[in-house]
This record gives sequence, structure tokens and C-alpha cells, in this order.
Amino acid sequence: MGQGRFITFEGIDGCGKTTQLRILAEALRTAGREVVETVEPGGTETGRQIRKILLDPANTAIHPRTELLLYFASRAQNVEEVIRPAIHAGKLVLCDRFTDSTLAYQGAGRGLDSETVHDLDRVACRGLKPDRTVLIDIDIETSMARAKKRNQRTGPDESRIDAEGAAFHTSVRQRYLELAADESGRFVVIDGRAPVETVAERILEALAADV
Ligand code: TMP
Repeated sequence: MGQGRFITFEGIDGCGKTTQLRILAEALRTAGREVVETVEPGGTETGRQIRKILLDPANTAIHPRTELLLYFASRAQNVEEVIRPAIHAGKLVLCDRFTDSTLAYQGAGRGLDSETVHDLDRVACRGLKPDRTVLIDIDIETSMARAKKRNQRTGPDESRIDAEGAAFHTSVRQRYLELAADESGRFVVIDGRAPVETVAERILEALAADV
């Protein structure tokens, strides 16, 4: 049995983390590792229902604190139902976003204080922290251009947070970079503007000792 590990992927919208998480999961499965992929918000049936509420552009009246609690409600369910059991079974869990997203989006983006975010994290995650976090960093122009392209491809289904302006995403990116600098042992920061295969190689290289 492998050693249970918890690795999260973070970054602003359009950074490519979802694609990279899938590539890494496939590479590790091919190498014989048992991998569980999950996502925040989402990852469980309850979480998927919460995700719908959070990302529906029609829900303009959601208060920032309500939003904060809903993100943690989804996370609490994911931790109990999927993440902890998989880690205990010796599996490698790859999670698309976790509490660093809340620190960046609700903390920096919405201006909620990080102590409140940490307090809720203690309630929802009961001390579970990622072993490693891959931050895929891109500039705001690239993020906006990719979001626009995606919306053209899939129709005008821009999520509530995608719809925020450049200032919001700039402060989210800035907070991510600060979090990574504060915990340089946990974070690895990868330039997301490189070709997909190059980014994938760099991630595999950086995580070699953990997977
Ligand atoms: P995704 O498109 O990467 O799945 O993320 C969904 C959106 O939710 C994205 O715009 C970031 C946002 N988000 C937060 O604002 N706070 C959080 O805690 C999480 C997990 C996501």
C-alpha cells in the first residue's frame, strides 16, 4: 500500500490547473499509484449541489459571508466523505482547489479577514492540510483571454467569480503569491504560460519526492 498523501492545485481562473491535475493523475496511475481526483467546490453529491448555488450568475444577492460558509460547507463534506478516507487507505488525493482558494478569493478578493477563514478551516477540515500545493501562476491578461475563449467555446456561462474584473483577479493572484512565499516548503510555483507538456513535466519533477 502506498503512503496516503494530499496534494492540492491552485491558481487564478484559466491557469490550467484542472488540465494539469488530470495529466498528473493519469501519469501516476500508469505508474501504478492509486489516485483519487476531487474538486472544490464539489467533489461529493452535496458539494455539487452547493457548487451550483455558488457559481450561478443569477445569484447576485449572496452575501460574502454566506459565500464563505458555502465554500466551507462543500469542503467539510468532501473532507469527511472522500479525502480523509482515501488518505487513510494509503491513496494519493489530488484536489482541484482547497482552503488557499478561500484565502485568496474570499480573503483578498472579497476583503474578508484571513483569521475568519482560518477559524472556519479548523471547523470544516479538522486539521487536514495539504502536504504539497501546486500554484500555477499566470498573469491577469492571460487569465482573462483564456476565460473569454472558454466562454466563447461553451456558451455564455461565465460563473459569478469569472465575471469579476481585473482588480479582483489581481488581488487574488497577489495573495496566492504571498501564501506561496509564506509557506515555501508546501508550495511549488509553476509558470502556467509555458506549453501544457512543459508545465506537466515541471510539476512531476517538483513533486517527485511526494508521489
Ligand atoms: P473552478 O472554476 O476552478 O472550479 O473554481 C470555481 C470558482 O470558485 C473559481 O472562480 C474560484 C471560486 N472559489 C472561491 O471563490 N473560493 C473557494 O474557496 C473555492 C474553492 C473556489
